[in-house]
Amino acid sequence: MTGKLYGVGVGPGAPDLLTLRAHRILTTVPVVVHPACKPGASSYAWRIVRDVVPATARVLGQTFPMSRDWAALVPVWRENAREIAAELRAGHDVAFVTEGDPMLFSTFLHIRELLLAECPEAEVEIVPGLPALSGAAALTGIPLGQGDQRIAVVPATWHEDKLRDVLHEWDVVVLMKVARVLPKVIDALIETGRLPHAALVSRGTAEQQIVTRDLERFRDRRLNYLTLVLVGRPLGFVEDLLSNGGDDASPLDPEEAAPEDGQESA
Ligand SMILES: C[S@@+](CC[C@H](N)C(=O)[O-])C[C@H]1O[C@@H](n2cnc3c(N)ncnc32)[C@H](O)[C@@H]1O
Repeated sequence: MTGKLYGVGVGPGAPDLLTLRAHRILTTVPVVVHPACKPGASSYAWRIVRDVVPATARVLGQTFPMSRDWAALVPVWRENAREIAAELRAGHDVAFVTEGDPMLFSTFLHIRELLLAECPEAEVEIVPGLPALSGAAALTGIPLGQGDQRIAVVPATWHEDKLRDVLHEWDVVVLMKVARVLPKVIDALIETGRLPHAALVSRGTAEQQIVTRDLERFRDRRLNYLTLVLVGRPLGFVEDLLSNGGDDASPLDPEEAAPEDGQESA
C-alpha cells in the first residue's frame, strides 16, 4: 500500500508552539524530511522538531537552494519529489516539516504539486502550523486585524514597486521576505507615514529572536532570511468607535454575536 505524505507545519520557532497533531505525526512516521538550503546542512524546521523525532526515524535533509533561477530550481524540486514518491511507493509514511504553516509561502507547496504529478495515487494530508505572522503579532502586540480592518500579506522582494500603494491602501500590512530589501521598506514606511506603527521580527519565538520597533537600527545590517515587518494601525480602535459616535462602525453580524453551540450566553 502506498504511504501517506504529511505536510507538517512546525510553527515559527519555539518548539512548544508545535501542535499536538504535529507532535503525534512526528513521533510515529518512519521518515521525516526537512528542507535545507545546502547539502548536509541543518534547517530551521529541523531544529524546531529534532528533540521530538525518535532516533528510530529516518531523517532526510533535502536541498532547496535559495535562488530565483527557476530553470535550475525546478529540476532539484522534482528530484526531491521523486525521492519522496519512492518512499511512499515503498509503503512508508513521510512527514515533510516546514516552518510556520505549510499553506503560506512554503516549499512544501512545490513538493506537493510535483509529487502529485509524479505519483497521482499519493495521499497528502496538511497539518496546519502557527504562521510566523501570528507569532510576530503576539510578540509585538500589533493586531493582525481588529473590527473591520483589512490585512495584506505581501512578499516584499517581489513587489518593491508596489510597497507604497499597499501601505496606503491596507490597514494592517505584513511584509514577508524583507531581509534583502529592508532599506527600501523603511523608505516606503517613512514616505507613507507608517514607520511609527511598524515592527521588525526576525526568527520570532526562537531563542535568537529579534523584535524591535527601531527599524532604522537594522537598515544596513545583514538580517536572517526569516525576518518580517508588521505594520499596524494606532491602538485605540474602541475609543475611535466611541468618538465617531458609532456611525462608521459596522453592526455585529447576528451570527457572530450568537453564542457558539454548547456555550451559555453570559
Ligand atoms: C517562505 S516564507 C515561509 C512562511 C511560513 N510558511 C509561515 O507560515 O510563516 C518565509 C518568510 O516568512 C517570514 N518568516 C518565517 N518564519 C519567521 C520567523 N520565525 N520570524 C519572522 N519572520 C518569519 C519571513 O518573512 C520569511 O522571509
